[in-house]
Amino acid sequence: MQTTKTKNTSTENMLFLKDVEKGLSAKQKYLPSKYFYDEKGDALFIQIMNMPEYYLTNAELDIFKNQTDELITALDLPIEQEFDLIELGAGDGTKTKNLLKALNSKGFKFTFIPIDISQNALNNLENSVKEELPEVKLTPKQGHYFNVLNEIKLFHKPKVVLFLGSNIGNLEDNQAIDFMTQLNAVLEKNDKVVLGVDLIKPTHIVLPAYNDSQGITKQFNLNLLQRINKELGGSFILENFEHLPEYDENTGIAKSYLVSKIDQTVLIKALDKTFHFNEGEKIYTETSRKYNSTILKQILDNTQLEISHKLTDSKNYFADYILNKTSD
Ligand code: AVJ
Repeated sequence: MQTTKTKNTSTENMLFLKDVEKGLSAKQKYLPSKYFYDEKGDALFIQIMNMPEYYLTNAELDIFKNQTDELITALDLPIEQEFDLIELGAGDGTKTKNLLKALNSKGFKFTFIPIDISQNALNNLENSVKEELPEVKLTPKQGHYFNVLNEIKLFHKPKVVLFLGSNIGNLEDNQAIDFMTQLNAVLEKNDKVVLGVDLIKPTHIVLPAYNDSQGITKQFNLNLLQRINKELGGSFILENFEHLPEYDENTGIAKSYLVSKIDQTVLIKALDKTFHFNEGEKIYTETSRKYNSTILKQILDNTQLEISHKLTDSKNYFADYILNKTSD
């Protein structure tokens, strides 16, 4: 596989710096989960997806492998109409390639537009689609999906937007409402969204997914601190922090933290500032929200997006909801 090294632009670095300063200065310290995904973080996330405890990927892959026809039927696409298939946070595209193959063999005409924050992931995806599906038209776009929504607005073909992998789960409910409102605004009547969400289920299934026995998720979480060390001249000693996942099965919200094992002060050179951590103090690093139809309907409440179908895997762990924009 060919990889292309990407250097952060100075603007990206400035935003990272600002977000780190804001997060670590807050009373309840936090770091935004979008910063997990540097080259190391991308690689760790791929490893997480291969962990036996991380059921999400296989559950959604089950849907994309075994219910491709149902999915295409649910999308209700006229065969003669060209459309754009836009994927937000495309990652390695394993699931989507099943859909691309099926659409292609049924004679649909479309352009696949994968969007990802990681140029590295996009390069790999582009190479593999070109190799496996040379007939599929491909226009990759680098960026965070929040920021590229406005560009999507400029595309004038009918749209099918894929937002898979429980990526929406990283958003707090108010952010998810904002995001779906913005997505709704760039869509036109009859455009579709395929929204992949992890379903609310018992703690004994969810919690191990965020605490795999090989410690990959722990490394993934700690990589945030390593990234601060690398890019912002931080002096975090990783051994002084612990990975802590939590899950509340009543609300369906999983959260991850980094917990300071000792009383310590950390210098971040790029800020010329130190930050103090008490023993046991938590840095909140990630939300992984689990859904059901009631919660999703609340999120979609002030949009014209309506649930038209719900496809679930054989274990009923995960759902891909097909949303239809019912009016302009
Ligand atoms: C990529 C947001 C779906 O929350 O399950 C995996 C990220 N974090 N293990 C998730 C993640 C820790 C993942 N999403």
